[in-house]
Amino acid sequence: MRQIDTIAGLRAAIATARARGERIGFVPTMGFLHEGHLRLVDEAKRAAGCVVMSLFVNPTQFGPNEDFSRYPRDVSGDAAKAEGRGVDLLFLPPVSEMYPTPPSLHVMADDLPTRWEGEVRPGHFSGVLTVVAKLFNIVAPDVAVFGRKDFQQATLIRRMVRELNFPIEMVVAPTVRENDGLALSSRNTYLDAGARANGLALVKSLRTVTAAFAKGERLGSRLGNIGRETLATYPDVRVDYFAVVDPTAMKPVDTASADSVAIVAARVGPTRLIDNMILGEAE
Ligand code: PAF
Repeated sequence: MRQIDTIAGLRAAIATARARGERIGFVPTMGFLHEGHLRLVDEAKRAAGCVVMSLFVNPTQFGPNEDFSRYPRDVSGDAAKAEGRGVDLLFLPPVSEMYPTPPSLHVMADDLPTRWEGEVRPGHFSGVLTVVAKLFNIVAPDVAVFGRKDFQQATLIRRMVRELNFPIEMVVAPTVRENDGLALSSRNTYLDAGARANGLALVKSLRTVTAAFAKGERLGSRLGNIGRETLATYPDVRVDYFAVVDPTAMKPVDTASADSVAIVAARVGPTRLIDNMILGEAE
C-alpha cells in the first residue's frame, strides 16, 4: 500500500493503475477505522482492481461547537488496518492540500439538509457534499462505497452523483454492529461503560419498530410512537429525532412499506449517536 498526501501524487498513482487496465474503487473516510470501514474496503475490492481510501477529517462538515479538534485520530493504526485489508492507495491530505484557500464555493442540496441531521447540524451536509465532490474529482473512481449508518448522507451523495452527472457507481454497504447491536462508529470511543449501555437505546428502538412492522403495523405515526416510547425508557438518553421515512425524499411516511427506513439520533451525555434500519430488511 502506498501512502500519498498530495493531490498530484494521488492522481499520478491512479493514472498508473488505470494504465494497467484496473478499475478504481474509492472508500472515503475520516479515519479512526473500525470493521465498518473495512467492510467498505471489501465491497470496493469486489468491484475494482485498485482501491483508494481517503483519510481526511474534513473541518468544513463540523459546526463551531462540534468535535472537530477532539475527533479521534490514529493515522498509523489506520494505515496498518487499511493495508491489512488490501487498500492499494491511502490518501492522507493535510487540510492545506484540500483547502489551500478558504472555500468560497459549496455544493448544497435544496431540502434535505434542513431535515433530521441537517436541522440539528446546520451546514454539515454542505461540508460533506463539497468535500465528497472534491474527492470524486481528485480520485475519479468507477465505484465509491459508503456506509448505510449515515443514511441521510448516503441519500444526499446519491442525489449529487445523479444530478451533477458524476460517472460513478455508488454502493451503500450495510451497517456493521457489535454483538449487542450497537452500530460501529468512530465516536463510540467517547462512550464509557454506562454511556455505552445507554447507547443501546438506539438499536433497541429500531428493533422494536421493525418487529412491529413485521407483525403488521403499517401506520407511520404509530411506528414512530413505538420507537419514541422505547427511547423514553432510557432517561439518560436525549432524543434528537426518531422517524419512519421514505428512503429517497426522507419525509415521514403515512403508510410504511418494506423500504421505509426508521432513523434515530440521540445524545448519550455529550456524545451524539445516529442509527437506522430498513423496515423490511432482516438484520
Ligand atoms: O462519512 C464520513 O466519514 C464523512 O462524512 C465523509 C463521507 C468521508 C466526508 O468527509
